[in-house]
Formats: sequence, structure tokens, C-alpha cells
Amino acid sequence: MPGRSKVVRGIRRGAAGLLSRSDDPGTGKGSGAGAAAPGGSPAASGPAPLWPSYPPPHYRGQLHPGFQAQMAQLRSQAQRQDCNWYHTFELPDGTVIPGAWDLRGGEDAYLGGTELSGKRVLELGPASGYLTFHMERQGAEVVSFEGGFDVSVDLLPVNGEELVHEKMKLMRETVDRVHNSWWFMHRQYGSAAKLVHGNIYDLPGDLGEFDIAVFGAIMLHLREPWGALAEAARRTRQRVVVTDLIQDRSAPLDSNIMRFSPLATHEISNWWSIYPGAVVSMLERLGFRGARITEHEQTHHLGHDMDAEPVRIPMFTVVADRG
Ligand SMILES: C[S@@+](CC[C@H](N)C(=O)[O-])C[C@H]1O[C@@H](n2cnc3c(N)ncnc32)[C@H](O)[C@@H]1O
Repeated sequence: MPGRSKVVRGIRRGAAGLLSRSDDPGTGKGSGAGAAAPGGSPAASGPAPLWPSYPPPHYRGQLHPGFQAQMAQLRSQAQRQDCNWYHTFELPDGTVIPGAWDLRGGEDAYLGGTELSGKRVLELGPASGYLTFHMERQGAEVVSFEGGFDVSVDLLPVNGEELVHEKMKLMRETVDRVHNSWWFMHRQYGSAAKLVHGNIYDLPGDLGEFDIAVFGAIMLHLREPWGALAEAARRTRQRVVVTDLIQDRSAPLDSNIMRFSPLATHEISNWWSIYPGAVVSMLERLGFRGARITEHEQTHHLGHDMDAEPVRIPMFTVVADRG
């Protein structure tokens, strides 16, 4: 039936799309084709996905060095071909691993010029972790947070149906392989950053306090951006950094606007077109003031098609400080 096939097509795109692109060129980040990226489709062999799995009680204890070592060990069998490369990386020997988003040279703009040395940073949704390791190189102690264990990322329903199977498939075939890439690069760089999993709307209670919280291109994918922002802000002493796509310019960027499901009805991972003005308003409510909005462009292979010429995608960053 025509409606169904449309949905199925959309689901495929969306499943890739959570970490990939849509057909809308303005919304390349997060929409489209993670699974189409090199290494993006599940390998015939290779380590089995770790999703779903039992969380530790209340998702606590994940920062313990022994727990992190165990997670690293579980991912240690994953080789380059077992990874989904969301970001472009340079290995210590100079080899370049191409990824759908190449943030090299754009890091400072992406993070709103935030001073990172000596800061404890909570990074929400690191994907392959390019920003994790960049921030660590700048002197930050980084804790990165992702869905995982038994917690899926959020997908929009279609025709009233919750996409239970699609979430399972997405977590096992794409997100799990993105987590492989985070740990692969963690090994390569000898990183001390930590990766924890759970519910972004109810963060594990023992993560502690942070100087800075970073939301890089994740708000558009969240069912409840306000809930996630408030949850992270509660644990943040100094600064919140929110970077997201500029998906529409029909109003001034400082307008307090969030458009729901801005793309085609079969697109399932792009929940919102968020104007920076809406982020500023949310942060004010949370006690983060003096917000600054900046615009920048980042390099992306549309559709995560690494054969496609990269294009520059417009993005914004909002930084606001407590007090
Ligand atoms: C579009 S990527 C952004 C990667 C990186 N922060 C950047 O800016 O380049 C979004 C990331 O957020 C994660 N994510 C999306 N929805 C999530 C949710 N509900 N809970 C936890 N993580 C989520 C995805 O797994 C992915 O790693």
C-alpha cells in the first residue's frame, strides 16, 4: 500500500538519518545516511552489538575506572570496519579516516570560543567523539553521554505508530557502531575521556557537577529538548553551549521559535527546527544569562555519501553563563 511503502522508505532514511542526512539540504546534520557511510552497514562478521544490555543499577557507577575499563574491553575487538564514522579523524600516524562531518578547523566556532583548559565538561551525544577528543586536547576532563544499555534514542512516530523495531535496528546497526568508533579513537589517542549511557532526561545520579555542558547537534533529535537541557543545566556550574543546525531563516534567528517535525512526515529523527532565540529563552529560564549567538558553517557529505562533494552547512552556537 502506498502509505506503507512511503513509511518504510522514510524509516530507512530516518534510521540512517538519526546520524545522517535527510533530503533537505539545510538539515544535513543528523539527517540522511549514517548507514550509507563507509563501514556504516553492519559487517557480516565482527563484534556483536552491545545493545540492548542490562544497565548497572540506576545507571550508576559508570565513571568508576573499573567500569570504564570494562566498557573499553568490550569494544576492544572493534576494528575500523566495525565502526560508523560520523566524524572525520586523523590518526596519530597522520592517516585520515573520512567521516560524514569534518569539523577540523571549525572546532572553536562550533564550541562558541569556549575556554576549555581545566574545565570538567559534560558532552551530550558525542557520536564518534571528534569533539570529545578535541576538548580533551584543549585541557578539559570530558564525560560524554549517549543513549545505550536499554535506552534508545528518540524516533518520531509515524501514523501514530511507535517505531519499536526501527529503534532496535537503529541502535544495533548504527548507534552501536558509532559507539565502536568513539572507543576506537579513544584507544588511538590514549584518551582518558569517559563514555556513559542512560536516559538523557534523567541523567545518572552520580555524574557529579560540571563546569560546562555541550549539546552538539543533538537538540533537534530530542523528543524533549527542554527536559534534556534542564537536566544537564542542573549539574552545570558555569556555561552551557548549544550548537545546532540552522534549518530555516523565515524569521530572524533570535526569534523564540521551535518548529515541530520540520521535514517530510516520513522523516523520523528530526524532531525540531530550533531557532537560537528559543535556546536563549530556555537558558535564561534555567539561570544562564548574557547569551551570545554566533553563526558558522561546517563541512558535511550530504547523505553521508562519502563520494559526494562535501558542502558547507549553516549552524549556530549559543553560549550562556550562569548568573
Ligand atoms: C547528530 S549526532 C551529533 C554528534 C556531535 N555531538 C557533533 O556535534 O558533531 C547526535 C548524537 O546524539 C546521540 N543522541 C541522539 N538522541 C539521543 C538521546 N535521546 N539520548 C542520548 N543520546 C542521543 C546520538 O546517538 C548521536 O551520537
